[in-house]
Amino acid sequence: MNYSGKKQLVRDVRFLSSGSCVPEKVLTNQDLERMVDTSDEWITTRTGIRERRVVDPSQAASDLAAVAGQRAMEAAGVKPEDLDAIIVGTVTGDHLFPSTACLVQAKFGATRAFCMDVSAACSGFLYGCELAHSLISSGKANLVLVIGVEILSKFTDFTDRNTCVLFGDGAGAAVLGVGDESHHIVSSHLGADGRYGSLIELPAGGSRMPITPEVMEQRLHYLKVKGNEVFKLGVRGMTEACIKALDDAGMTAADVDLLVPHQANIRIIDATAKRLEIEPERVFVNIEKYGNTSAASVPIALDEAVRAGRLKEGDLLMLVVFGGGLTWGSMLVRW
Ligand code: UT7
Repeated sequence: MNYSGKKQLVRDVRFLSSGSCVPEKVLTNQDLERMVDTSDEWITTRTGIRERRVVDPSQAASDLAAVAGQRAMEAAGVKPEDLDAIIVGTVTGDHLFPSTACLVQAKFGATRAFCMDVSAACSGFLYGCELAHSLISSGKANLVLVIGVEILSKFTDFTDRNTCVLFGDGAGAAVLGVGDESHHIVSSHLGADGRYGSLIELPAGGSRMPITPEVMEQRLHYLKVKGNEVFKLGVRGMTEACIKALDDAGMTAADVDLLVPHQANIRIIDATAKRLEIEPERVFVNIEKYGNTSAASVPIALDEAVRAGRLKEGDLLMLVVFGGGLTWGSMLVRW
């Protein structure tokens, strides 16, 4: 694009649709009771999770991502060749490279779209939406498919009760396009603090610690979480991110019709909603079915909220995320 003499464009951006895809196989708390020293009672009271989905060995991130993306495109009446960009939030992509976004593009032939992955752990979908917003608002793109996908089961140590009860697999997606006064992203806020990187990490498998037999013996190719510390920072981070987006819009939490938060732990969700003074009726929760699906959590919840009729045209929707990095973000949307 030649920028000389071009006037700055600033367009409203909206969510046109949503879509999701979760694997068929269900792993229940009772199944986990047979694998590690845990109980259904501990998992449900400490996390709110009753079951999660896990892929077959043959499935990878791009498989679920492509289905979720296809469903979002169908709901928006958009064809793959109409897409200007595909952005995939994931930390469990098919490969280190090529990007999962490129693999998705090839699956449905979105030949005009440029493609990239965003690595922001549980915040990946919202980070992707923020990039899509910038592309569309500036006139560089008209239609962007944003997907959040994770296959955490392949990076989970199923002998470690501290982590294996928490996570699940899945994908969620949204098509973003040009908005108008009544349907648009009102405000958003992203943040990160790399000093806390080691609180949620996958130590091995990158250039710092390639996978070797010794590494595998120490089980460093599986994700590690310092849950208790993340818990406290999560409540604070999600609350502050919401307040920032509301302040920027000149609104308060009383204006929010539906809060769709990252589904990591029911107690984190409840504590965040309580601090914001948003009662449970205005909060969407599906953690009991899927556990924490990281970047897929908010777009799956959003899609289920849409399909359950929880969002009416003109409603004020708050999306909020928090996760590894550490990263966080919020997005206030006039639906
Ligand atoms: O999306 C961002 C990523 N999300 C997260 O990182 C999760 C955030 N954190 C959490 O959800 C919670 O901190 C957990 C659910 C992970 C843990 O809950 P907690 O209330 O913070 O428990 P805790 O870590 O303080 O552990 C309490 C006890 C420990 O035993 P001791 O040392 O008190 O004897 C753990 O060993 O619970 C034990 N424990 C378990 N017991 C039965 C830990 N996992 C289990 C388990 N079953 N699965």
